[in-house]
This record gives sequence, structure tokens and C-alpha cells, in this order.
Amino acid sequence: MKFQFPKDFQWGFSSSAYQIEGGVDKGEKGSSIWDTFSHAPGNVTNGDTGDIACDHYHRYKEDLQIIADLGSDVYHFSTAWTRIQPNGKGRAQQEGIDFYNRLVDSTLELGLKPWLTLFHWDLPQALQDEGGWTNRDTADYFVDYADILFRALGDRIPMWLTHNEPWVASYLGYGMGIHAPGIKDYKQAVAAAHCIMLSHGKTVQAFRASDAQGKVGINPNFYPVHPATEEQKDIEAAELLFENCNTWFLDALFKGSYPQKLWNYYEQRDMAPEIQEGDMDCIRSPIDFMGINYYSRHVAREKKGEVLDVEIVPQEDARQTAMGWEVYSDGLYEILMHIHKEYPPIDLYITENGAAYDDQVDAAGHVHDAERVRFFQEHFAAAHRAMEAGVRLKGYLVWSFMDNFEWSFGYTKRFGLIYVDYGTQKRILKDSAKFFKTVAESNGFEPPADAR
Ligand code: FCB
Repeated sequence: MKFQFPKDFQWGFSSSAYQIEGGVDKGEKGSSIWDTFSHAPGNVTNGDTGDIACDHYHRYKEDLQIIADLGSDVYHFSTAWTRIQPNGKGRAQQEGIDFYNRLVDSTLELGLKPWLTLFHWDLPQALQDEGGWTNRDTADYFVDYADILFRALGDRIPMWLTHNEPWVASYLGYGMGIHAPGIKDYKQAVAAAHCIMLSHGKTVQAFRASDAQGKVGINPNFYPVHPATEEQKDIEAAELLFENCNTWFLDALFKGSYPQKLWNYYEQRDMAPEIQEGDMDCIRSPIDFMGINYYSRHVAREKKGEVLDVEIVPQEDARQTAMGWEVYSDGLYEILMHIHKEYPPIDLYITENGAAYDDQVDAAGHVHDAERVRFFQEHFAAAHRAMEAGVRLKGYLVWSFMDNFEWSFGYTKRFGLIYVDYGTQKRILKDSAKFFKTVAESNGFEPPADAR
């Protein structure tokens, strides 16, 4: 039995500026929090930084050609705020705009649709010095930055995304401190989670008021959360974590509110963010589509004293990726069905899904990443199943085009369908890239027996 996707279904690749571009010293580019964070000792494995990364800044044409050759419809990338405004405010840098003009034009010339994310975590350091996402002014600066791009590229971008994974930017960056800016203060994390959503709403409004063509949306990450036992306290712990990861963002976007249980938890501990009149209406400004980043699920139980009084229980017997993340394709189905059932109808796209494995180049120069192929077969099958159940899924973008700077893991984790030899910058197609090509070109695939 073949899984066939609808004729207009979109296949593609996602990437992000700091993870691939390099070219840190080009033009008047300013420093972002990821420049600062990666250069400070101890934050990133092996002291890796994004200074050179995949040198995509110089090799973008070659990279786009590979993406086009793989039968892709879409290339989804992010812009570096510090190339456009080195300090996050003020006059736009023409050299930065020119780079994205070249990138977008080359993408279009190859028949690919350029999708643009405005924020994939590389906040200008100068704005972090004023509080970053805990400072409401940042939301207004973000709109100014977005507006520069609406003017510069608004005639050519079909799909705009405001924020990639606001949960990660706020909780890993300001709560756990394992991402830039490396702050460990949950009150700040919650404030950031509100401010980022506010900046999203303001940007959607600015988009509507601009002359930019295309559609606007956002791509949060979502996790199913399952209780580790049937005990009431663990069920409640799982529910609270679910609200933290998912409902906070979904309810804000579609209902203009935050989930009550989580809000009460924050309020009782003096962690609730300041909400001003009009904020929630602004956040719920209608969007045209939503992107979904999906990687795994959480299994949770109560543990007093932890944040949210919740502990995540590793699933050691399950199949895992090199990140230690459980391979759990049913979770993609579950998340898609949850959004489909609980929120108003809207076009959905998978904007990130993928897996890291310890890929090796063999003597013949090939990378046989059978586990990654299997991962995608199972997840594509789960998406197909959700579509059969009525979910309005319109496309699937995989993470990632090529191996790249995996945040605090540096270059040690490979998520690409294309292998990057960082010494030579050579790109090598993995078997998963060849698999992707057959799927994208035939718009379907023959699943293995255990994925049916
Ligand atoms: C997501 C990020 C992306 C990449 C993948 C593995 O959370 O958006 O940049 O790191 O995980």
C-alpha cells in the first residue's frame, strides 16, 4: 500500500541563520546572544561556535541547488536580525538586506518557495543588554525589524513566520540557561514566553498593515506529555507540563488566554508575567497558518521541588536518537489531532521534524543512515494518518537540510539529510536525502510493514 499525499502537498527543508550561515564578520553584522554565548567557555560542546558553521553565507547557491535537486518545493530559512540591524534597532544595513535579496532571488530562480522565519533565537546582544525578551520594548523593536523585511522582501516571500519555538527561546534561554542568553531564572522565562508572544501578535498586525504579500504564521514546538504512572499526582504533573509546553502558546494564539492551571501555578509563586490591557487580543490576531515542530514526547511524573513540580522520565528501553530523544511517531499524530480537535480550523504544516544519528562516511564515501530513513517513514506515515482523519496538513518540511551547529551540542549532533564535512565544507547526500527525493518527487512512499 502506498501513502499518497494530495497533489498540492508541499515538501521541503528547514534551516536557521545562526546554525548554517557563518560569515560572522560580513558587513556591519552585530553580535547576537548566540555569538556571545557560544564564545563564552563551557557553554557549547568543544567550544564550537557559529563563526563559520556551514559557510552557507558564501555557499548558498550550491546549497540551494542541492535542495532543488532533491525535489523540494520549499526552502525555509531564518534571517539574522543582527545582519539587518546590528544593535537590534535603528537604520537597516543594506549589506544584510542584499544578502537575503540574493538568497531569496536564487531560491525563486530554482523554482523553490522561500519561507522566512524572522526569529530563530539569535537576538541582538545589544537588546539582551536591555533585558532581551523580558523587556517589553523588545517586542516593539522586533516589529521594526520585521517591517524592514516586509518592505525589502514582501513582494517575494509567500510564507512568513514570526517565531521559531517560543517555548525553547524562553525556557531554555531564560529558565534553564542551557541556551543563550544563559539565564537561570524561571520568572524571567515566563516573562519572555509572554513577551515573545506579544511580539508575535504585534508583528502579525504590522504585516497586515504593510504591503507585503503572502501569508503569516508562527511555528511553535509541541510535545505530547504522558503520565509515567496512573497515579493522580502524576496525571496532574503531566497535565501541567502539557500546558507549559503546548497550551500556553495554543490558547494564547487561538483563544487569547493562558491556561488556568498553569497560570495559577505561576501566580502562587510570583512568577506570572505582567499582562497589559490589549496584550491578549493582540496575541490572538488571526494568523493564516501554523507551523508545527515535532521531535518527541515527554513522559512525566510529579517531583516536588523541580520546576512545575514535574520530572521528565527518560524512556531508556525505547528507540532513541543520538540526542537521547525517544523515537515516537504516534506523538506527531496525537499533536496534530489535538490541535485539529481543540482549536479553530487552520492550515497546518510540519515545519521541523528530524533526528540526529552518529552518521559515518564509509570507505566508498557514502552515508547509510538507515535509522533516519526509518524515522522519516514512520513520521510521514503518522502525518498521513492524521490527514486521513481530517487534519488540514498542507506540507512537511524536514529538519534539516544539512548537518549544522546544533546549539549547545555544537557540531557533535548531525541532523542533516546532507552530511557536512566541516574540514572541507564538502556536502555528501545521505541515504535519507535520496529517500526524501523519491518521496517529494512521487508525493508519497511505500511504508515499511511496521509503519502501517
Ligand atoms: C529545534 C530547533 C532547531 C534544531 C532542532 C534539532 O528545536 O528549532 O534549530 O536545533 O531542534
